[in-house]
Amino acid sequence: MNGFHFKNNRWHSDGVPLSKIAEKVGTPAYVYSLPAFEDRFKEIDQAYKTVPHLMAYSIKTNDNLSVMSALSKLGSGTDVVSGGELFKARKAGVPANKIIFAGVGKTDEDIAYALKEGIRYFNVESIPEIVAINAVAKKIKKIAPIAIRFNPNIDALTHHYISTGKKENKFGVFLGDLDKVMKTVRESHSVRWTGVHAHIGSQMTQTGSVGKAAKVVEQIVLKLRREGFPIYDVNLGGGYGIDYQGEKPPKASQYAKQVIPVIKRLNAGLLLEPGRFISGNSGVLLTRVVYVKQSGKKTFYIVDAGMGDLIRPALYEAYHRIAPAEGPQKPVQTVDVVGPICESTDFFAKNRKLPTAKRGDLLVIFSAGAYGSVMGSTYNSRPLAPEVVTRGKRFAVARRRQTWQDLIRLEKISR
Ligand code: LLP
Repeated sequence: MNGFHFKNNRWHSDGVPLSKIAEKVGTPAYVYSLPAFEDRFKEIDQAYKTVPHLMAYSIKTNDNLSVMSALSKLGSGTDVVSGGELFKARKAGVPANKIIFAGVGKTDEDIAYALKEGIRYFNVESIPEIVAINAVAKKIKKIAPIAIRFNPNIDALTHHYISTGKKENKFGVFLGDLDKVMKTVRESHSVRWTGVHAHIGSQMTQTGSVGKAAKVVEQIVLKLRREGFPIYDVNLGGGYGIDYQGEKPPKASQYAKQVIPVIKRLNAGLLLEPGRFISGNSGVLLTRVVYVKQSGKKTFYIVDAGMGDLIRPALYEAYHRIAPAEGPQKPVQTVDVVGPICESTDFFAKNRKLPTAKRGDLLVIFSAGAYGSVMGSTYNSRPLAPEVVTRGKRFAVARRRQTWQDLIRLEKISR
């Protein structure tokens, strides 16, 4: 069985009891099931098998080298948003021609690096960026392949902090600027425009917005082709939601039903940038209870992981399931699960009914494979947690725990 399951009174990642991992590597620690990542990748890949497509796994969700390498072996490409992500993807063995580069603030250095590596294309987010890419490409005597990201002004019906396709969001080019974009590209002889991109938001739990975005993109592609631009690549981004607390998100095949007809009508190649769908429920965060604190009527489980390890609850009031790694699972008391960091937002659950826990008990925080470790920080000088991967009955430390020495490695005392 792949992923996380409760067997013989203990939670496991694949065939490995999570308590065994915690004993070996300590806590807090991230644990990833590599087969779970692979299964989720295959689910989307299969859903789109009737059209030419490339899955560019969005590594902003989880850029662990072992994870990227496993997905790359299945044929995955990568969606990157910084020079650092591009560097890591290449180190994990992702071929440059399967890498696309998005983000609103690419620097000249990022652009030159990506051109030298020979990436598939840039997802361009503004007119000044077209000008910059053209200038850099000209200087280093390259032709830069580009897709333009448009802002289709569609509500992804998700948390407002992770909605990206509405006109007030900073992402993509305003649709009304299409003529200006065409003019700019015509004047830019070192870019080659081959694709149109739209990504409207993350953690979507219905398919309608994806269908709407596909139709807007279809109209843009048809217009551009009429204007003489040989647009082939249609990139519909990521955003497929996962189950955090019983949302019942659509299956990949249900999204595909909205998209495939458009791709077939256009006779285009599809590119997708799924992140959370692949990584979200393929990882957990392990943490131990340091104290059970009674404060008036409130009970706090103070744990050894904090918002520096998993910031989603603090940032979006995100819900993550929590369970003891072993023993009775029946919720019996209402508690707050909080971290050791000096901030009131340092919590994992508020007023949550959980099983009784005592000092030293191991807890599992679920759905932590996406936007977990990657958003980690060393706030309060707390070293970054290690990342462990499992497959079958084996587990391995894929990234070791940071040490206190690591914390001071970049510093020197100046007077
Ligand atoms: N493509 C683009 C252009 C994106 O901006 C994103 C995510 C993705 C793909 C991947 O989206 P996914 O399939 O994972 O939904 N930190 C927030 C989510 C931020 C989303 C950023 N963009 C969270 O923890 O919920």
